[in-house]
Amino acid sequence: MCGIMGYAGSGNAVPVIIDGLAKLEYRGYDSAGIAIYQDGDLVVTKKKGRLADMVNELGEWPQSILGIGHTRWATHGVPSDHNAHPHMDCHGRIALVHNGIIENYAPLRKELILEGHDFVSETDTEVMAHLVEKYYDGSLEEAVRKALSCVYGSFAIVVISADEPDKIIAAKKASPLVVGLGDGENYLASDIPAILSRTRRVYIIEDNEFVVLTSNSVAISDFDGNPIEKEVLEVDWDMEAAEKGGFEHFMLKEIHEQPEAIRKTLSGRIKDARVDFSDLNFADYLQNTSKIFIVACGTAYHAGLVGRMAIEKLAAVPVETDIASEFRYRRVLWKPGDLMIVISQSGETADTLAALREAKRNGIKVLAVTNVVGSAVAREADWVIFTHAGPEIAVASTKAYSTQLVVMYLLALYMADLRKSYDAEKISKMVTELLYIDTLVEQVLQEQDKIKALAEKYQGVQDTFFLGRGLDYAVAMEGALKLKEISYVHAEAYAAGELKHGPLALIDDGVPVLALITQDKLVEKTMSNIKEVKARGAIVVAVCKENLQEACQECDEQILLPRVNPLLAPIVSVIPLQIFSYYMAIFRGADVDKPRNLAKSVTVE
Ligand code: AGP
Repeated sequence: MCGIMGYAGSGNAVPVIIDGLAKLEYRGYDSAGIAIYQDGDLVVTKKKGRLADMVNELGEWPQSILGIGHTRWATHGVPSDHNAHPHMDCHGRIALVHNGIIENYAPLRKELILEGHDFVSETDTEVMAHLVEKYYDGSLEEAVRKALSCVYGSFAIVVISADEPDKIIAAKKASPLVVGLGDGENYLASDIPAILSRTRRVYIIEDNEFVVLTSNSVAISDFDGNPIEKEVLEVDWDMEAAEKGGFEHFMLKEIHEQPEAIRKTLSGRIKDARVDFSDLNFADYLQNTSKIFIVACGTAYHAGLVGRMAIEKLAAVPVETDIASEFRYRRVLWKPGDLMIVISQSGETADTLAALREAKRNGIKVLAVTNVVGSAVAREADWVIFTHAGPEIAVASTKAYSTQLVVMYLLALYMADLRKSYDAEKISKMVTELLYIDTLVEQVLQEQDKIKALAEKYQGVQDTFFLGRGLDYAVAMEGALKLKEISYVHAEAYAAGELKHGPLALIDDGVPVLALITQDKLVEKTMSNIKEVKARGAIVVAVCKENLQEACQECDEQILLPRVNPLLAPIVSVIPLQIFSYYMAIFRGADVDKPRNLAKSVTVE
């Protein structure tokens, strides 16, 4: 995610843009930039680092009637001055900012270079600036329309030209964009908080809508130019609520961002029902590796547990999973050709980084799965697959986890395809199911109020168990961690079949047990474990697929999940656990986004 601003008006663009970017930094903050119209030219200031670094670079704030700005969350091209937005054409007459991913940027870049365009960055965005230049023939509006017809992917773009200093052109597909309506001035922004101090009258721009904005007019059309009439939205949010997109906490906002984050992580990775990692050039290595070590911490480790089962099942490669802080203290029996996969949302976790360096010291290739371009693990690994969850602000990881799962499945399916280790038709079917899994997540998010009521009912408990078998056990571990870390309720995840070997002694009247039941082949065995805990007074909340509902009749409560391939079920079954933990924390008065004793990124060992 990135933050975008635009201003056209009789006032000064600079303070409006900078104030707006400051409100959008939660969307991305690895670099920032601004382009303003001054005396017939576009003047661009952009810098790696936080917004404040760019503002320092700017020096005394100039006066301008037209400008655009950007705060970046890198997806293509590390955070740097030259990769920061705005991006320009060859002659510095056009400036453009973008939020999203241009999936076909690579062939377009090659073509534009052959046509003589000079590129100065590694970003996908710069391609758009040169496409607008290519088609510019006196009308910025027409040039942008033509440029849009060449690209596919997700975008919110905002464009200005030194030759048309009275207007801003913008377009939206899959990434957010709003228009703010002022008095003698108008605004563009990635979302409402950025302009709320200026106006409460906004247009929410929808997919495939195109905006021509001046200081006293806003014309909205589709990409073909057909006019669109829109309702003005009168925003009544307060500022704090607006920064969380109307949600009370970042955690709930990020739980609801998961469908979009999943779509973005999948974007460009599936072509003709096959997984495509050709840009990483690691096919040979993956085809021949004989062992994989997945190492991570916390939630990322739990994603690794799912990854292990998916890779072993589909790619038939043995996988070991280790908590990073433990991995470093055992004799690791690695061999040349082995692969280490480190998973880290922040890419800066000290224990995970130490494990990566240990592998490198032993000549072992490392694949990093991280959410932060330019992070330490991204820089030091041999290959990197980025999750595109956007900045995750809440300490409790949610959208990072689900996008880590997506990458694990993509990797397992890719390896199975390469190694011919699984039925090709079933692989293709699973790839297609993965492509639409976001719709199942959206379906489960609709259950929020029911799950909230469960949390209200059980808010007073002190001890809980999360049970599951196989993949359900891996998700149970993530659910228990969520509850522990934000509501401070003791939560223990156990393999359902293991309870009778001791922990069953802890089950007493009224102890809540959340049982995950998504693995069709294991449901009978899990139900017999549920009977064991029920017989000792436990209250069982089943998180079960709707086709297994019959088997779960014995449970006291049921949270139903849509039908889903058992292998892919974790992406869906974790959602109710996230929501349950969130509301348990709310009812218990805990600080959801900043739980006690914890930090978002643990950069100490
Ligand atoms: C997740 O809810 C926790 N905040 C924590 O376990 C986290 O997953 C862990 O610290 C690893 O962080 P990383 O993914 O940034 O490496």
